[in-house]
Amino acid sequence: MSATARKTAPLPDDIRARKGGTPLVSLTAYTTPMAEMMDAHCDFVLVGDSVGMVLHGLPSTLGVTMEMMILHGKAVARGLRRAMLVVDMPFGSYEEAPEQAFRNAARLMAETGAAAVKLEGGVTMAPTIAFLVARGVPVMAHIGLTPQSINTLGGYKVQGRGAAGQALMQDARAVARAGAFAVVLEKLPESLADRITADIDIPTIGIGASAGCDGQILVVDDMLGLFTAFKAKFVKRFASLGEQAEAAIADYARAVRGRSFPGSEHVFSDDMPEPKA
Ligand code: KIV
Repeated sequence: MSATARKTAPLPDDIRARKGGTPLVSLTAYTTPMAEMMDAHCDFVLVGDSVGMVLHGLPSTLGVTMEMMILHGKAVARGLRRAMLVVDMPFGSYEEAPEQAFRNAARLMAETGAAAVKLEGGVTMAPTIAFLVARGVPVMAHIGLTPQSINTLGGYKVQGRGAAGQALMQDARAVARAGAFAVVLEKLPESLADRITADIDIPTIGIGASAGCDGQILVVDDMLGLFTAFKAKFVKRFASLGEQAEAAIADYARAVRGRSFPGSEHVFSDDMPEPKA
C-alpha cells in the first residue's frame, strides 16, 4: 500500500469530528477481497479479533495472537483506498502495562499501516489509553460486552442493565476523557446507549446498542450470512451468502460426479490458441 493510495482515508480526528452527524458506517474485514468490496461504503474498517471465531474456528477471541492480527491487518490494508483502517489489540497484548500496550500497538500500526488500534475496557484501561494517545497511538475504545472478558462477565450477556448502567456510563466517560477518538458500545440496553451517546463528546459506535449511536458496526460474515454457527439478536442478515455458497458447492459436487463438469468450454485442445485469461 503506497502512501499516495491511502491519502484520502479519514484520520481518527475526522472520525471524532463526525460526532452527532450522519451515522458512521463500519464493518469488520479480514481479507483483501472483502476490504475491497466495503472500501467505498465504509468510513472505517475494523480488523476485529472476531477473526479468530469467524475464520479460524476458535471458540472465543481469547486465542487470537498478534501474528494473526498482523497477517489479517496487512491483507485488509491491501484492499483499502479510502476507508480508515483500525486493528484490534488481541487479548494479552495490552492489559499488563501501558508500556506493553504501546509496544504492541506500535507494532500493529507499523506492520499493517493501521491508523488506529481498538482495545477493550473502560475505567481500568483509561490510563493505558491516555498513555497510548500521548505517544501517537489513536485509540478506539470498546465497552459493554467485551468478548475478551467473557469468562469474568459470565458469558455473552447484555451489560449495564439497571444499576450496572452507571458503571458503564463511568467507563464511557473515562475512555472519552483519556483521549479515545471513538468508543464501541456492544450489547447494552438501548436507553443506556442513548444516554451515553448524549453524554460524551466522542462518537459512539453501536453493535447491539441503539440506532441513536453516532455509528454502527457489524461483523461482515454475520451480516452477509456467511458465519452461521450462531446468530446474535443484534445481527441483521442483509444476505444469505452461506446458503448460496453451500448450494453452489453441492451443485459442483454433483457436476463432478456426473462428469458434466468440466464441459467442452473449460478444456483445451491441442491446437487451440492460448486464451487471453
Ligand atoms: O472483534 C470484533 O469484530 C469487534 C467488533 C464486533 C466491534 O470487536
